Amino acid sequence: MKYFQILNYGNKVLKSNNIKSYKLDSELLLAKALNKTREFVLINLHNTLEPKYFIKFKKLLLRRKQKEPLAYIFKQKEFWKHRFYVNNDVLIPRPESEIIVDEVLRLTSQNSSKHFLDVGTGSGCLILSILKERLKSKGTAIDISKKAINIAITNAKMHHLQNKIKFVNIDIDKFRFNKYDFIISNPPYIDNIKFSRLEDDVAKYEPKVALKAGLNGLKIINKLIFRSKELLKKNGLLILEIGENQENKVKQLLMKNRFYINKICTDLRSHPRVIISTKFI
Ligand SMILES: C[S@@+](CC[C@H](N)C(=O)[O-])C[C@H]1O[C@@H](n2cnc3c(N)ncnc32)[C@H](O)[C@@H]1O
Repeated sequence: MKYFQILNYGNKVLKSNNIKSYKLDSELLLAKALNKTREFVLINLHNTLEPKYFIKFKKLLLRRKQKEPLAYIFKQKEFWKHRFYVNNDVLIPRPESEIIVDEVLRLTSQNSSKHFLDVGTGSGCLILSILKERLKSKGTAIDISKKAINIAITNAKMHHLQNKIKFVNIDIDKFRFNKYDFIISNPPYIDNIKFSRLEDDVAKYEPKVALKAGLNGLKIINKLIFRSKELLKKNGLLILEIGENQENKVKQLLMKNRFYINKICTDLRSHPRVIISTKFI
């Protein structure tokens, strides 16, 4: 069979399994089976596919048909300016979390030497993207998941930043080490009801510990704000990602804990997504 016929077959399989991006996904999966780029596939549509590659393609297609995210199939995800290793022990980095990186870079100069704490580091995408651009700064990254910490260490080595970051496998509740200029976090913030309605791609494959946050979705955010009072230096900044409809409740929590709200950043759909606040005293 020719590549274009294989792609038609892939499209049909994925479309009938409600994969919205069926066309792009088929192209990427065929490219992966061939160990070539998508562009190579698209300019060689009349090439004949050898049977061994067709078997490989069908295996990949089956995984995608069962809703496994492409990032886990490919074991990588682009975030900010870099590529990160991922597997289903860590959340797949999301574009909206790039707001945190963007804001930190806006708030710091290139030569500044700051100490960052990344709470719930997962793949390490946030702290690594920041330290790649703030070479005189250093970081500490914590996560309750040992497996996530191992992935973050792999990514730190891949980006030659392992000497700039201390990784700690710990619950934020128990972390009592040092004082920081910045605390950044994309914590779990999905409430139990929303969690039960998540798409299969997310619910079946991504780690629950990275997503679920109790009845109101604020379980970890609550702990994080409380601990940040101790962990931040005076006038230190907490830069926190939040879920839909959490803005007011999180603002109240911050004010109750004597944080000053500096800015609410919205995502591409105009939803409040990141809150920047300062520790007063
Ligand atoms: C939404 S993921 C964010 C991962 C990564 N920072 C990102 O933006 O892609 C949340 C992370 O917080 C970690 N986590 C959950 N509860 C925690 C806790 N109590 N203390 C520390 N980390 C926690 C999870 O293991 C997960 O890696």
